[in-house]
Amino acid sequence: MTDQTAESIPIEKPVKPKGPLVYRQSIFTRVTHWVWVVALFFLLLSGLQIWNAHPALYIGEQSGFEFDNTILAIGAENTDQGVRGFTTIFGHKFDTTGVLGVSEARGRQNFIGFPAWATIPSTRDLATGRVVHFFFAWILVATLAIWLIASLANRHFWRDILLKPRDVAGLPKDLVAHATFRFHHGRSYTPLQKLSYFVVLVILFPLIILTGLTMSPGMNAAWPWLLDVFGGRQTARTIHFAVMVLLVLFFVVHIAMVLLAGPFNELRSMITGYYRTSPGTEPDAKETSK
Ligand code: HEM
Repeated sequence: MTDQTAESIPIEKPVKPKGPLVYRQSIFTRVTHWVWVVALFFLLLSGLQIWNAHPALYIGEQSGFEFDNTILAIGAENTDQGVRGFTTIFGHKFDTTGVLGVSEARGRQNFIGFPAWATIPSTRDLATGRVVHFFFAWILVATLAIWLIASLANRHFWRDILLKPRDVAGLPKDLVAHATFRFHHGRSYTPLQKLSYFVVLVILFPLIILTGLTMSPGMNAAWPWLLDVFGGRQTARTIHFAVMVLLVLFFVVHIAMVLLAGPFNELRSMITGYYRTSPGTEPDAKETSK
């Protein structure tokens, strides 16, 4: 009988089956993606600076004292407990002291819509906010145009973004898979990924650009039809803000999904282009099967 204690028996780690390493993200997808990350960061914070110059939103062609079309307002008011910050959404008023309306900056109370830490620059400076915002807005327009031309040419748009009937049919199953954190790593995106990237790239980005242009007096002269399409400058401004909120929500879910799906593999694909797929995925002829 051999004398083998538990310590001397070599423990073999189970080898996780791996699928092939495929080239999934083209250079155009990767470069435009990281430019958007930088541009959207500056657009969001400089946008909040501009918004603070008039922290209210309206629906309709006009705004003013004689109108009752405010849907969101942030401000400060004197109360028995001192100055308090408030936010009113569709007529419902909330005390938001500390964050919205009244916040602290450099040890002093600041009576401002969004707090100093959420704006670029962090002091009240509308002119600089506008310069930063318009600079990155044109970067977004240019990179979206480059992305669209490249994605049509290399078929990324057709293969990964546009939902085909079989993707639509697969949506409920993919929704359950994502909700239960069972991720499939394939050659292309899953139906839910296609849908969310389609919404961002084909609906939200163009919408935020067009509503931004609708707020420009120069564009009103050149393309007056934009005002008709979006129901006036105030409604365009409200849609612009709402799309910003949707993009922030997308960002939160997007980062959560990247972290849950395997951040190393996901980030490698968006940096080098190469992605480790689930077992059973067929590699293309020019791809490695390491
Ligand atoms: C500013 C916010 C962001 C937006 C609007 C955004 C948007 C997008 C879009 C539209 C795609 C699909 C691109 C295409 O296929 O052409 C994508 C993919 C991806 N993004 Fe982002 N992204 C953002 C931030 C980030 C950040 C901060 C990270 C990393 C931590 C990240 C990691 C990824 C990865 C890994 C993919 C590929 C996902 C996959 O293979 O399913 N994204 N993103």
